[in-house]
Amino acid sequence: MKPIRIALTKGRLEKDTTWLFEQMGLDCTELLQKGRKLILSIPNAGLEVVLAKAADVITYIENGVCDLGVVGKDTIMEYGGSFFEVMDLGFGRCRFALAGKKGVDFYAGYGEKTIATKYPNVSRVFFKGKGMDIRVVRIEGSVELAPLLGLADGIVDIVETGTTLRENGLEVIEDVAPISARVIVNTVSMKLRKAEIESLLHRMEQALDLENKGE
Ligand code: PRP
Repeated sequence: MKPIRIALTKGRLEKDTTWLFEQMGLDCTELLQKGRKLILSIPNAGLEVVLAKAADVITYIENGVCDLGVVGKDTIMEYGGSFFEVMDLGFGRCRFALAGKKGVDFYAGYGEKTIATKYPNVSRVFFKGKGMDIRVVRIEGSVELAPLLGLADGIVDIVETGTTLRENGLEVIEDVAPISARVIVNTVSMKLRKAEIESLLHRMEQALDLENKGE
């Protein structure tokens, strides 16, 4: 039988999901000692793990080369795509927020506002909801620099502890959306391997429940 292939977002979500798999009693030796390997097997469970960048997790799921993916809601909101979003894993919690220079009234004046971000779609949808057109400047690195340098009126970015904003004289103007890790499933896999996938999701849910109850 072909293993169920799961794409994990490299980094923190990968670590949190590995922890979850351990709670489920799965053998995570390969995952924990992966070195530079990108496809890892979980023996005796019929599972194979692929490590990928967040946006690529969506690409692999959409194209059906992976069955399940673990990816942040931030990536889902920005890239969208056709897949089933089936579970909120509750970890990787942070939020999207609009932020700007401390003490500056972002909404003052009538001119079009410029937003620096790595998330142009999330930004446009947020401001569209307010009936505001914005100019988006895409920044690849620390977007916090843009308002400080006078390139943007504000940023739409991920805020976790708020330290980055605080240490750079910026503050949250408004929350945009909460973020956490989600499980997504390829639409064809969901039909063809329904029983296996549902059983796996059920075991993931049980392990999360046990943790939440502090057992
Ligand atoms: C994110 C985000 C902020 C920072 C917020 O960047 O872009 O810069 O974390 O976290 P805080 O509220 O706890 O300070 P990340 O560290 O993920 O790196 P990135 O710039 O590569 O996205």
